[in-house]
Amino acid sequence: MSAARARLGVLVSGSGSNLQALLDASARGDYPAEIACVVSNVPTAYALERARRAGVPAVALDSKAFGSRAAFEQALGETLRTAQVEWVCLAGFMRLLSADFLAGFPGRVLNIHPSLLPAFPGLHAQRQALERGVKITGCTVHFVDAGTDTGPILAQAAVPVLPGDDEASLSARILSEEHKLFPLAVRLAVTGKVTLEGACTRVAAPPATQGLCLHNPGMPG
Ligand code: GRF
Repeated sequence: MSAARARLGVLVSGSGSNLQALLDASARGDYPAEIACVVSNVPTAYALERARRAGVPAVALDSKAFGSRAAFEQALGETLRTAQVEWVCLAGFMRLLSADFLAGFPGRVLNIHPSLLPAFPGLHAQRQALERGVKITGCTVHFVDAGTDTGPILAQAAVPVLPGDDEASLSARILSEEHKLFPLAVRLAVTGKVTLEGACTRVAAPPATQGLCLHNPGMPG
């Protein structure tokens, strides 16, 4: 029997394709993390269905049904602690988390964002990139702080903007890199390959190219 796997709680609000990438990774026996529960603040999110199909506990906590952010976060924290979650992954989770909530999982909350942060934080990152006319954008996995996409950066993939791109085509190209980067970043984080150093991280893994894209750190092999 291999070493105990890190227990992940994945927070979602929508389609959950990044959740699916984590589910697929954790289905492999050599992956160092398992998904202990999935929580959506949107009861109709398709991500919940993905979790159920994978046999993972799926919990809907309708953020609109709570009287305050504190009440919602209290319920969220209890749900995660009941599932003995050690690491929290935000996979298209469309809520900001307070410093109080984050203090319950110090240095153990990761988010994926569809731009090369610090460029284009917040909503519609791909549209922002197109409007600004950048030639390279991408995605970022970062530690979460109480700001909007401001925490220490763990991993990034650079993705080209191609002639004729619209928001849909660019989003799809970035998303396919997100599906590789997030499981990789989680693997590195839970296996102690990432050290937080103030506003930055030190990551013990080299970069790698993937077709037209550059991942840093990169996929092994
Ligand atoms: C992804 O682009 C992610 O970077 C952003 O929200 C989107 C979620 O997509 N935070 P999905 O629900 O994982 O398909």
